[in-house]
Amino acid sequence: MGYFTDDITVKAYKHAFKKNYDHSYPNENIVRISEAIKLRPGSKCLDFGYSFGENLIHFAKKGHKMFGLDNHKILEKKTLKKIKERNLKLKFEPELKTLTKKDKKLPYKNNTFDFILANQNVYLLASEEKIFKLLKEFKRVAKKNAEIVITMMSQKNWVARDGKYLGNNCYELDPQSKLNRVKGNFLHRYYILNSKSHIEYLFRDFKINEIGHFDNSYLGVHGHHYVLFLKNTK
Ligand SMILES: C[S@@+](CC[C@H](N)C(=O)[O-])C[C@H]1O[C@@H](n2cnc3c(N)ncnc32)[C@H](O)[C@@H]1O
Repeated sequence: MGYFTDDITVKAYKHAFKKNYDHSYPNENIVRISEAIKLRPGSKCLDFGYSFGENLIHFAKKGHKMFGLDNHKILEKKTLKKIKERNLKLKFEPELKTLTKKDKKLPYKNNTFDFILANQNVYLLASEEKIFKLLKEFKRVAKKNAEIVITMMSQKNWVARDGKYLGNNCYELDPQSKLNRVKGNFLHRYYILNSKSHIEYLFRDFKINEIGHFDNSYLGVHGHHYVLFLKNTK
């Protein structure tokens, strides 16, 4: 069983990436947030669950030193290929690493990052215990006063509405048929937040600067996510 990973979700994404599941653009909410977060050029930023690499490339183009961590080795090659093919002249080459199910620490030294982004993936750990372990690691590798932005699914998300409840705030849903068009098994598990006090409980080791949300509701998809702006006050 994975320490910072959920086996079912890792299997689903492995399948999806083999089927060339990809994006060719950064997430619009993250683009907006990247404008608002004041980072000095050359800041060290971790994109946890960097996946398609598009958000990471967006930050790298701003002159930041990017570190990407995901569960699939294939993503390292795919992202570096995008950078090469687009002929991007980045000030810093991104450092991409792959987390395995046995890893019990994130592969970075204490106090490394000025900024950590975890967009649409912490909930994929599908376990409160694992999320606490990951947040403890975020705290360790973040510098004092580092900003951390984490998005989490809420009770209003279609996963909670249409998914199967597994207990302990976790749901299961195979979203392949509606949104992602990945043929075959794309079954994930998700940890859902249901209230402000739930958020305060889960993120109690950080200063919560703001609890926002983004949402989309069309084509049968209801994508409500909380956006948590945290500070690592240590
Ligand atoms: C919905 S995609 C989000 C991708 C990207 N962050 C974005 O905003 O477009 C989820 C990504 O998180 C990764 N992921 C899921 N669980 C993870 C874990 N425990 N550790 C690291 N990455 C994980 C998946 O492999 C996948 O690439």
